[in-house]
Amino acid sequence: MPTLDRRTFLKTASLAAAGTNLHLLAEAPHELALTAGQASSPNNQIQFALIGAGIRGQSDAATAAQVPGAKIVAVADAYDGRLAHSKELWGNDIFTTRDYREILSRKDIDAVIIATPDHWHRQIAVDAMKAGKDVYCEKPMIHIYADGPQMIETARTTNRILQVGSQRVSNIVYAKAKELLAAGAIGQLNMVTARWDRNSSTGAWNYSVPLDADSQTCDWPRFLGSAPKIPFNAERFFQWRKWKDYGTGVAGDLFVHLFSGTHYITGALGPTRAMATGAIRFWKDGRDVPDVLLGLFDYPEGFNLSLRVNFVNGGEESEGLTFTGSEGSMEVYNGAVVVARTPREKEPGYTVSTFTNEMQKRYLDQYRQKYPVENPTGPTSATLEKFVAPKGYNDTYDHFRNFFDAVRSRKPVTEDAEFGFRAAGAALLSNLSIERNSVVQWNPKTMKLA
Ligand SMILES: NC(=O)c1ccc[n+]([C@@H]2O[C@H](COP(=O)([O-])OP(=O)(O)OC[C@H]3O[C@@H](n4cnc5c(N)ncnc54)[C@H](O)[C@@H]3O)[C@@H](O)[C@H]2O)c1
Repeated sequence: MPTLDRRTFLKTASLAAAGTNLHLLAEAPHELALTAGQASSPNNQIQFALIGAGIRGQSDAATAAQVPGAKIVAVADAYDGRLAHSKELWGNDIFTTRDYREILSRKDIDAVIIATPDHWHRQIAVDAMKAGKDVYCEKPMIHIYADGPQMIETARTTNRILQVGSQRVSNIVYAKAKELLAAGAIGQLNMVTARWDRNSSTGAWNYSVPLDADSQTCDWPRFLGSAPKIPFNAERFFQWRKWKDYGTGVAGDLFVHLFSGTHYITGALGPTRAMATGAIRFWKDGRDVPDVLLGLFDYPEGFNLSLRVNFVNGGEESEGLTFTGSEGSMEVYNGAVVVARTPREKEPGYTVSTFTNEMQKRYLDQYRQKYPVENPTGPTSATLEKFVAPKGYNDTYDHFRNFFDAVRSRKPVTEDAEFGFRAAGAALLSNLSIERNSVVQWNPKTMKLA
């Protein structure tokens, strides 16, 4: 395809496959002539690269590569062992480099997955979009607030797809919860409580440090980037979440998933007020971010959100959200959504036992005339609806399928840069509240701190 760039080809091929080639004729007869009937040719493949081939990056790329028509062709990472393992995983033909810019300059790459530490997300995403690549950027989209507007603006001006990697947004259980809430299954929403606890050293981010980690095998300056310059430190390199210089703590690591889920299910844009508290209660290992964090948030849509993460004794990966409404509650946890209705007795109740016997009698007589007993057995709680994802369901696969569909169709994704900033911006309010020792305000429409 000498005269046609890969992206135009992909777009044309997918539209042609959808039977819309007549519409394209007016726009680009040359492209259509080249691509008609080739939708299933090997060139209809989306070729992607992985930048940041650590724990999440490797699993993201392996999942993405399972989506039909997607192929991994290159990997960038700052630790040689992960570049070598990428070849073990995906073959010797994979192009590997320490310098992600070498990936961005390659013409055979349509899209990149960014799974580096948080403090690199903005820089690499902006560079990638300016180089014409679509971007799947792991959550949290930002490290600091200033990252958000720049990423949104670059996605807009370059017309690139940017999808953030909170995969629950493509989860079929979350889609069902969204549908149930909109259909009034629990009445008027008034409260959401959510948690993502852990109870293990690995859960508390004490990831393994390879035995060959040193300043030769690890590109320390490349890892540091804009972070303060300090001598090589293997713990910081491999367990970066424990320090604010590279990560965003529990808020950006885990609250952000709960915000993405809440925003997706409710359609809310974000909170207006936030307050949080937290501390290092157990993992006093030199980290500078809390291992217990509690946050409270006010939503202008008329509900309150409370979030909790506990790394001290919080159970294994106990992730879940409970939506409470005027008519019942909806639990989203463990691959299922369950709605329970709590019928409310219409009568207002009485507290008359401290009155005289005569007054009690008169009061109760009058009360029963006004509220005859309709349901002598009292209120019952009934499970109305239960939806369980199939065994082995993988929402990251669906998230990548949605991403690659958008790369082909050029249609917007749900978890775009604005969605990503609204979730991460809301999450980071917790850190700000602790830092300022006060309630903090956020404008979820304009995405600005007030
Ligand atoms: N969506 C999810 O459920 C989920 C789960 C885990 C992690 N994540 C996100 O994925 C990202 C990565 O997390 P992780 O646990 O895989 O971390 P990790 O430390 O295991 O991997 C990060 C990799 O990035 C590399 N790196 C650092 N600086 C680089 C640079 N300038 N250029 C290229 N490579 C560089 C490191 O060498 C490392 O291999 C984080 O933002 C995290 O929040 C998302």
